[in-house]
Amino acid sequence: MRGHHPLWDDVEDALAAWHGAGAALVMNSGYVANEGLLSTVIEPDDWVASDESNHASIIDGLRLGKAERFVLRHSDLNHLESGLRTAHERRSPQRQLFIVVESLYGMEGDAAPLAEIVALAERFPAQVIVDEAHATGCFGASGSGLVDLLGLRSRVLATVHTGGKALAVPGAYVAGGALLKDYLVNRCRHLIFTTALPPAIAAWWLDMLPRVQQDGAARTRLHANADQFRTILARAGISAGGNHYIVPIVLGEDAGAMGAATSLQAAGYDIRAIRPPTVPEGTARLRVSIHADHTPDALAAAAAAIAHALR
Ligand SMILES: Cc1ncc(COP(=O)(O)O)c(C=O)c1O
Repeated sequence: MRGHHPLWDDVEDALAAWHGAGAALVMNSGYVANEGLLSTVIEPDDWVASDESNHASIIDGLRLGKAERFVLRHSDLNHLESGLRTAHERRSPQRQLFIVVESLYGMEGDAAPLAEIVALAERFPAQVIVDEAHATGCFGASGSGLVDLLGLRSRVLATVHTGGKALAVPGAYVAGGALLKDYLVNRCRHLIFTTALPPAIAAWWLDMLPRVQQDGAARTRLHANADQFRTILARAGISAGGNHYIVPIVLGEDAGAMGAATSLQAAGYDIRAIRPPTVPEGTARLRVSIHADHTPDALAAAAAAIAHALR
């Protein structure tokens, strides 16, 4: 009712400018941003393709929206095309088609084929929504994410960005058009019926933003560190999924992943096991997050510790 402090206008203007988007809207967390956005813009008569590796907050937003759901095999463009074609053939005039994906998958560590997804979407047409939680701050000259890096901003409906990962601030936001923002401000229950973040947090965002934008050197180190770590793992015969700074090592059964994580933690490494239901049954894994400030020695030692734990 009166939670909107003018400092948030400054934050949202700065975020919109960062992305070259019409507008940005801050929400209390990435979870509520996804759930609120998806359950507000997607109507029960609509159809939505959602990647099987999408985050729980996307799944819950779609459940709440009640549209027909098509669970897309992970980044499978042929599957997406066949789903879109079937949905298009059965399309009523008021039915909209949507595609919801992550740009960099949090549990798989791989990037979505975004350019191909957007091109497919335009053929039918369908609207694309991209969760950039794991890419924000890390891709592009100023770190605004993969959608901007690939020049796709004007061709997607919205992107969702979280503060809790590379940005290291509380909260999240949706970037999109001004009309979308107006619609959410007036209709999104996850925005309207919750207490706004305090203005001190807005000041924190304003302090954070130029640091992230200007720290291209950290982004360069981050990607170089990820490459180095992946090379050392490969040399040690350990196969890792994905291709960037989230490095999943799929082990299979829960017990094996838990045992390896426990021994790595005992050796001083904060490496966690990820188990079902976060990932599918039989794909329990170690997930390593590479940081810009990891040194070459630390990365080599971590890889050696992992090799030891898997022996
Ligand atoms: C892909 C993705 N989207 C959304 C979220 C939710 O963000 P938040 O932690 O800000 O609620 C997460 C995890 O935290 C995530 O990994």
